[in-house]
Amino acid sequence: MFLLSVTHIFLSLSAFVCAAPAGTTSASAADSSPTVPLASDNPNYPLWNDTVDYPPQPIRGPFGANQLGPQNIAIDKQNPDLLAPPTTDAGTVLNAKWPLALSHNQLHTGGWARQQNTQELPIATQMAGVDMRLEPGAIRELHWHSADEWAYILKGSTQVTAVDQDGRNFLETLNQGDLWYFPAGVPHSLQATDDNPEGCEFILVFDSGDFSDFGTFLLTDWLAHVPKEVIAKNFGSDIAAWNGIPGEQLYIFPSNPPPDNATSPSDPQGSVPESFGYRFSQVPATQLAGGTVKVADSRTFKAAKKIAVAEVTVEPGAMRQWHPTEDEWAFFLEGNARMTMFAAEGNAATFDFQASHYVENTGNTTLHYLEIFHTDIYQDVSLSQWLALVPPALVKAHLNISDELIATFNKTKATVVAPDPYLKAF
Ligand SMILES: *[C@@H]1O[C@H](CO)[C@@H](O)[C@H](O)[C@H]1NC(C)=O
Ligand SMILES: *[C@@H]1O[C@H](CO)[C@@H](O)[C@H](O)[C@H]1NC(C)=O
Ligand SMILES: *[C@@H]1O[C@H](CO)[C@@H](O)[C@H](O)[C@H]1NC(C)=O
Ligand SMILES: *[C@@H]1O[C@H](CO)[C@@H](O)[C@H](O)[C@H]1NC(C)=O
Ligand SMILES: *[C@@H]1O[C@H](CO)[C@@H](O)[C@H](O)[C@H]1NC(C)=O
Repeated sequence: MFLLSVTHIFLSLSAFVCAAPAGTTSASAADSSPTVPLASDNPNYPLWNDTVDYPPQPIRGPFGANQLGPQNIAIDKQNPDLLAPPTTDAGTVLNAKWPLALSHNQLHTGGWARQQNTQELPIATQMAGVDMRLEPGAIRELHWHSADEWAYILKGSTQVTAVDQDGRNFLETLNQGDLWYFPAGVPHSLQATDDNPEGCEFILVFDSGDFSDFGTFLLTDWLAHVPKEVIAKNFGSDIAAWNGIPGEQLYIFPSNPPPDNATSPSDPQGSVPESFGYRFSQVPATQLAGGTVKVADSRTFKAAKKIAVAEVTVEPGAMRQWHPTEDEWAFFLEGNARMTMFAAEGNAATFDFQASHYVENTGNTTLHYLEIFHTDIYQDVSLSQWLALVPPALVKAHLNISDELIATFNKTKATVVAPDPYLKAF
């Protein structure tokens, strides 16, 4: 699980893009000016992974020296590109990785929740995330907040309810791989069904980096802090009718699983015009040379006005194309990945990511992750498409590469590219 901001290059499993052999220069091409030294031709593969049975050392080629002090070998094995960074890393880039295993968990009867916001990861100012688990029937209580909420179900199914500002209601049961979206201020609830005997777990993303899910407006917290006569007056009832309400917030609490045929009460205002649920699990993925991709944004999931997602799989050795874009919050579902984040002005840093079942994924299994963006429309730029669609002489003048190589650049966007036959398998 990780977060990242700013322009970056995403690399999985394999190392750097494009190691085609040097070609010849044609007379018609512009000459490049040797105003700066040439880039190093050393590859910078990650030097080890979690499967190695030796303590890794902070040594890359002629640089570094072994560690004499205490060493946390497990963490070093998961982060080869921090302990022995590629020589292409430079300057300072804020940390872009946060294992949710380091988040302080909040345990309740019926489930738990742990979050990442700018307290954990100061670079991630645009979005915050929560990992939440509910046992069958358990409820994340009726609440609302000032940020938009987007969700992806990791396991099980969840019954969600909401009522919008115009009094129109909504109830839907969503399954693994499906999404929901609640605009800011819309009161909602989440409840695990017993479709999965263990209940459900989901990832929430909010459209503000400093959002805290532990600081939302909860029905119980609110009523526990309003004088009883005011509550009674509001509902035109007797005070004693409110004797049994909780004296403090519930947040998550156990309950009976909702029936399969649950429906919203009849609503004189009607139901919400754009569903807050989206059956993303039923959207077919687009097959690409090195993996698959499918996208949900406001064009297809109309309620999702501020958050878009790409669900991506990358086969061993393949790579997610370079994509400079807006801030991205990514969550790893399976497999291992490597990513270089380029923050302009010569600053770059490389990070290694693992899904939670890290030990089972040693880098030879398919990578599966979510790219989440704070935007209404998903868009990215492909490096090869960019370079294929400007005059070749212009590219040559920048990069001093052969015409033959430039001619191979693909004019169509390839979101995930197949393993490079010129690179060693990794
Ligand atoms: C272009 O690259 C070649 C190596 O491939 C190098 O010998 C040459 O000096 C470079 N030319 C310029 C103008 O940088
Ligand atoms: C793990 O790292 C070792 C040492 O660099 C390497 O030999 C092995 O191929 C790597 N395994 C995978 C699955 O990448
Ligand atoms: C749902 O199913 C239960 C049990 O089969 C039944 O008693 C109830 O009337 C149904 N409710 C609705 C709204 O259809
Ligand atoms: C993946 O790696 C594991 C551990 O190194 C190994 O046992 C397994 O055979 C590998 N699978 C494939 C398909 O290469
Ligand atoms: C270019 O990319 C498209 C889309 O991924 C792919 O279908 C096509 O085969 C590629 N063309 C070449 C010449 O690699």
